[in-house]
Amino acid sequence: MNVSQIRRDFPIFAKSDAVYLDSACQTLRPYSVIDSIISYYTDFPACGGRSVHSMASKVSMSVDESRAVAASFFGCKDADSFIFTKNCTEGMNIVAKGFGLRKGDVVITTDLEHNSNHAQWVDMVSGTGIRRKITKTTENGEFDIEAFKKDVSDGVKLVSMMHTSNVTGSSMPVKEIIEIAHDRGAAVLIDGAQAAPHMPVDLKELDVDFYAASVHKMLGPSGMGILYGKEERLKDLRPLMHGGGTVGLATYDSVKTTPHPDKFEAGLMDYAGIIGTAAALKYLMKIGMKNVEEHELRLQKLIDSELQDVRPLSIIGPADPMKRGGIFSFNIRGMNSHDTAMMLDNVNIMIRSGMHCAHPFFVSRGIDGCARASLYIYNNDDDVLRFTAAVKKLASSFSK
Ligand code: ALA
Repeated sequence: MNVSQIRRDFPIFAKSDAVYLDSACQTLRPYSVIDSIISYYTDFPACGGRSVHSMASKVSMSVDESRAVAASFFGCKDADSFIFTKNCTEGMNIVAKGFGLRKGDVVITTDLEHNSNHAQWVDMVSGTGIRRKITKTTENGEFDIEAFKKDVSDGVKLVSMMHTSNVTGSSMPVKEIIEIAHDRGAAVLIDGAQAAPHMPVDLKELDVDFYAASVHKMLGPSGMGILYGKEERLKDLRPLMHGGGTVGLATYDSVKTTPHPDKFEAGLMDYAGIIGTAAALKYLMKIGMKNVEEHELRLQKLIDSELQDVRPLSIIGPADPMKRGGIFSFNIRGMNSHDTAMMLDNVNIMIRSGMHCAHPFFVSRGIDGCARASLYIYNNDDDVLRFTAAVKKLASSFSK
């Protein structure tokens, strides 16, 4: 992977010497994505799936192409199994609310979920008779397959879990989780927000029922997500929203819905975002997801070797750097994580701090947050060395 070449594709690096280590929140965008958005707004800024004039037809064809690109990125042939959403959160909510869980049904999550796979369950179990079980991860936030096997019983209808934690970077053994869940008759929804941008994900091979991802974490436009569902699952899934595009025919007292994916895409869509999605996924496919994964692990190892002797530093996540993917979460003893982030920002190093929308994990462990550096394809050794040098300096100057 030629990182210098990749960096030339990102306009921000021509303007700034920032070390951007916040890609788990949102990635930077290459020219190809920006150009595709500009092209939509300047050349064919019409609506898709409705009018039949030539400009609108071009939009409809571009949307179809984006769906096909999404399918190919995730190892699938059935483009209609891919729904465009505004983010991973929306995808997770569409499935939670539309799956048809009833009184007595059980859903399982882990104790390390992002709020996008937590808050809706707290809301949904209240007064409905739906039950939620929470499989505990280990102290370091790694998946405990034995605990999961005990939790997944016959009443379980849905297993809803992250693929990779946005806090610890650890990845769950999703293939095994899916096999176990299917054996017990449960469907599986995976939050792929922190996995799809960083490793090869073959949805057919995983045999997963639903998979959600955020495109703005994979070089795409802000406010874009993807939800995949197996065809038979999408047929049964009830849409979260209704409106234009979801209706085949309606009378005053009846509505015949369109088939998926349209059934889930109510109202005018973000066509620029959908077109930019295709450009982003094509860019990643050209690099190759295995190369992305290996690159991040190499940088993760470099962080580890630079910081392993820094005593006031604690790592939130697996001790083995090879199990942390592209995420390095840490605290400097005696320092608040937001102070760490602001001081790093003073030297133009951008990370995220706080509870990372995974509050229950921190609250249950009595930690008030952490600093998090997250890597991507455009980060190089120089970024890592600037980051680790700044962390060492903070640790020696401020730690109590
Ligand atoms: N979920 C995103 C993050 O972890 C916003 O930063």
